[in-house]
Amino acid sequence: MPIIYNEKNKTFKLDTDNTSYIIQVYEENYLLNLYYGDFIPDCFVPGRDKRTPNASFSPANPVIGEHGFSPDTAPMEFGTSGAGDFRISALEIRNSNGDSVTDIRYCGHKIYDGKKEIPQMPSSYVNSDSEAQTLELYAKDAVTGAAVTLYYSVFPKYDIIARRIRVTNESPKKMRIERAFSLCLDLPDMDYDMISLYGAHAKERNAERRPLAHGIQGIGSRRGASSHTQNPFMALAQKGADEEHGSVYGFNFVYSGNFSALAECDFNCTTRVIMGIDPDTFSWELDGGESFDSPEAIMVYTSRGIGEMSRLLHRFYNNNLIRGRYKTEKRPLLINSWEAAYFNFDSDKLVAFAKEAKKLGVEMLVMDDGWFGKRNDDTSSLGDWFVNEEKLQGSLGDLIKRVNNEGLKFGIWYEPEMISPDSDLFRAHPDWCVHVEGREPMLGRNQYVLDVSRKDVRDNIWEQMYKVLSENNIEYLKWDFNRNICDAGSALLPPERKEEFFHRFILGTYDLMNRLVTAFPNILFENCSGGGGRYDPAMLCYSPQIWASDNTDPIERLYIQFGTSMCYPASSMGAHVSACDRTGYGTKCNVARWGTFGLELDPTKLTDEETEIIRNQIKDYHRNYELVNRGDLYRLISPFENPYRAAWQFVSPDKSRTMFTLVTMRREFRQHLIVKLHGLDPNAYYRNEETGDVFSGALLMNAGLVLTHIAEKSGESVVICFDKI
Ligand code: GLA
Repeated sequence: MPIIYNEKNKTFKLDTDNTSYIIQVYEENYLLNLYYGDFIPDCFVPGRDKRTPNASFSPANPVIGEHGFSPDTAPMEFGTSGAGDFRISALEIRNSNGDSVTDIRYCGHKIYDGKKEIPQMPSSYVNSDSEAQTLELYAKDAVTGAAVTLYYSVFPKYDIIARRIRVTNESPKKMRIERAFSLCLDLPDMDYDMISLYGAHAKERNAERRPLAHGIQGIGSRRGASSHTQNPFMALAQKGADEEHGSVYGFNFVYSGNFSALAECDFNCTTRVIMGIDPDTFSWELDGGESFDSPEAIMVYTSRGIGEMSRLLHRFYNNNLIRGRYKTEKRPLLINSWEAAYFNFDSDKLVAFAKEAKKLGVEMLVMDDGWFGKRNDDTSSLGDWFVNEEKLQGSLGDLIKRVNNEGLKFGIWYEPEMISPDSDLFRAHPDWCVHVEGREPMLGRNQYVLDVSRKDVRDNIWEQMYKVLSENNIEYLKWDFNRNICDAGSALLPPERKEEFFHRFILGTYDLMNRLVTAFPNILFENCSGGGGRYDPAMLCYSPQIWASDNTDPIERLYIQFGTSMCYPASSMGAHVSACDRTGYGTKCNVARWGTFGLELDPTKLTDEETEIIRNQIKDYHRNYELVNRGDLYRLISPFENPYRAAWQFVSPDKSRTMFTLVTMRREFRQHLIVKLHGLDPNAYYRNEETGDVFSGALLMNAGLVLTHIAEKSGESVVICFDKI
């Protein structure tokens, strides 16, 4: 049983295969966190329940008295505002009388097998009820009638706990939620480094590590998207922890909108972590009887290093987050028209791409931006989702038939949440863009954001999309989102609900995506936001793959892919070979083979030699598909730490095959480079696929691979595969 309630100590024990998490119902029904770390058999950890209050400056509960307990210093399970805990608050509710004191105390619980879905929102799931157990902890503010359910779904095999909350107004009066975080965790020390993923368009998810310091530190987004600039991921790694050693807590938010992930180290040198919807751009009014559900936050702990944290998340996301036909089915290898043609294409050009791509072993052609309305550049037509037959020299059906006749499937591009000022849709409905009354909205890439918080707007877009998708043999859809949101407002929201806009927008997006995957379960769906501007766990619930970045330079991609792999699996990482000229095609392919692999170039312009390299690489891609998509990733040499090279390795789950890749970014004089492999069976023997040389797993992991004059120059790379014999 992963979750038990211990009557004697009044504790809940949440166990995974390797971790334990203990919650205590303390005096006066305060909920405290006693422990989160490596597995322990005990149900109680003495001394963890109280921490000495700071003299008269840490408030005491009048019933418990001033004998050593204060909400300000205790390890609170869910810290709230204004009731004696001065640290960052995970929950703040403004009452009908205007104050925002929020004090929730335990009043009951339920434990059951499996896990419930969150209404209107994506979340992790169980394939069968035996995979997880859920604890619902009920807590209530006796004064205001705010009732809170804290949800914990424990997935033992992956050392994962998925958390979220629901707030219900059990009073007859209105209340307003000012902050509703999904996760709060009080740790008894602060000896950690924070790891987060900062970035920008074309430079996404750079791993950054900094020591925690007293005070509040953290990351977030107020851009209306999970964003390029900070990914909704944060880890706390014990000082000195590296890829293979040390304690690491990982937190990932299953949400695509504004978020906040904070750590506060207080005067007692303890740490509180909270993760949830950004409170500065959010509030939510609850009428009597109404409920609000927060998104889900994923929590993982391991004492086996940062690499193991990533592998646990990868396995969990592959099995319990990504869904649909292409969760397990091999995905078609695609060529995308964007970098090959931009807006400048017609049917003949696309069919010529298909013909050449087929010879390389490609399985699908994706027609990117520019096929609809009057769109020949980025100044018009978003919102007018009807086919530009003049540009295509005929119907979409005819084009698709011609591509299919070349032996390729067909995919298409959409940007459903946007509207161009120069569009029929905007001319007909000027109030359908995101705006506030009396202000001209800001432009981004010449476009406005469409107000998908409105159902009438969503219905219109959906009808337009449904027509094209249902009338044509479309087997893939790339869903883009090419700007961030300001002028946040909807014509339909009354003043007191204006701060609900950002969350309602995201709920609208999820509704549209849900309609798509429900109506077209056979379409492979790839998420995109100017590359990886919405690369988050929530999007993985709809699209099994996400275009990682508009930057396809293979050396830049090393950083992007290392950072992305911190939490997201290779199966999800959209990676294409493009015509950029920093390295040869060998290295471009070796780098793209870490992810979904595909082409983003004009195949009619390749030389014979390039064609041969790509054709062979595609064969290798097919042979290693399972290894990359289901295997375990080991980051061996990180470009964030080593200026000369990057190296990584995939190992199949049964340890029977491994693929090692090394890319040299800058030349270093070293005649013998030694790289130690990881994750193999030390007692087994492995054969080098190319040379036939046989070594023990122990040798490969302890003595390592000796690379003599291999991939020495900048831009060169090598891939070596071993099979167990
Ligand atoms: C975004 C995407 C690109 C491409 C263009 C089309 O930038 O990331 O891959 O689809 O939009 O406008």
